[in-house]
Amino acid sequence: MTRILLLGGTTEASQLARALAEAGVEAIFSYAGRTAQPVEQPLPTRVGGFGGVAGLESFLREEGITHVVDATHPFAAGMSRNAAEACDAANIPLCALERTPWQARPGDDWCHVPDIPAAVAALPEAPARVFLAIGKQTLDAFAVKPQHHYLLRLVDPPEAPLPLPDTAVEIARGPFTLDGDLALLRQHAIDRIVAKNAGGTGARAKLDAARALGLRVILIDRPEVPARQVFATVAEVMDWLSHSARLGV
Ligand SMILES: NC(=O)c1ccc[n+]([C@@H]2O[C@H](COP(=O)([O-])OP(=O)(O)OC[C@H]3O[C@@H](n4cnc5c(N)ncnc54)[C@H](OP(=O)(O)O)[C@@H]3O)[C@@H](O)[C@H]2O)c1
Repeated sequence: MTRILLLGGTTEASQLARALAEAGVEAIFSYAGRTAQPVEQPLPTRVGGFGGVAGLESFLREEGITHVVDATHPFAAGMSRNAAEACDAANIPLCALERTPWQARPGDDWCHVPDIPAAVAALPEAPARVFLAIGKQTLDAFAVKPQHHYLLRLVDPPEAPLPLPDTAVEIARGPFTLDGDLALLRQHAIDRIVAKNAGGTGARAKLDAARALGLRVILIDRPEVPARQVFATVAEVMDWLSHSARLGV
């Protein structure tokens, strides 16, 4: 019997959860537990880490999981590495539902950087007004450039004091719109953006708004993850699941 573990935390994972529920496929949805009120899913849901590769491998065996779909964010590389290793050890087929990275269009002013430290280094020495659109987990790295004003957009209000002295915090959950992001950038007189190359449509609005306003974007490249079967759409994942289930995999 097919029994899926769906590693979530993205809009695409929620779309796949709907498709699995509608098709009546048995599946467990998994959240890391980073947000206070995660989006409700139409599947049985668990929250929290598994306890590394060994913990995930035990979970796969105990729950009788037959397939794993990694639909985590492209920057959740730790989870993706663990999933690849645990599936390998437990001999369970794995695929990823992954958004295509964004490509620059005419008029975009993008500076590509490999990681967070390089994004920090790419900020100027002179005070600037920066939309730091990278979530909450890696803000500490920007503390070495306290001269900038930072606009943060977070899902939940910060629980601890922020490591940056001059911030404005916008509490919001995507997807975002071009009009909304244009208004936000103008309201805060932002002159540059730091973003992760997440891909997809829901977070793209800020890049389109930056182009419209002629702002520079410091775009962080995706971290490396192990090679695995990758699909860009929910339909392809559903095909893969039904195909491998028919083959008795
Ligand atoms: N990184 C981003 O920019 C970003 C943006 C939007 C959404 N998200 C979502 O936020 C979550 C955490 O991202 P992250 O970058 O912190 O991940 P990460 O650094 O790759 O993962 C760190 C640890 O968190 C646990 N974890 C991550 N995703 C999990 C999941 N779906 N279910 C159960 N445990 C999970 C695992 O703990 P154990 O080792 O204990 O199993 C993992 O080793 C992911 O679900 C991701 O899709 C991340």
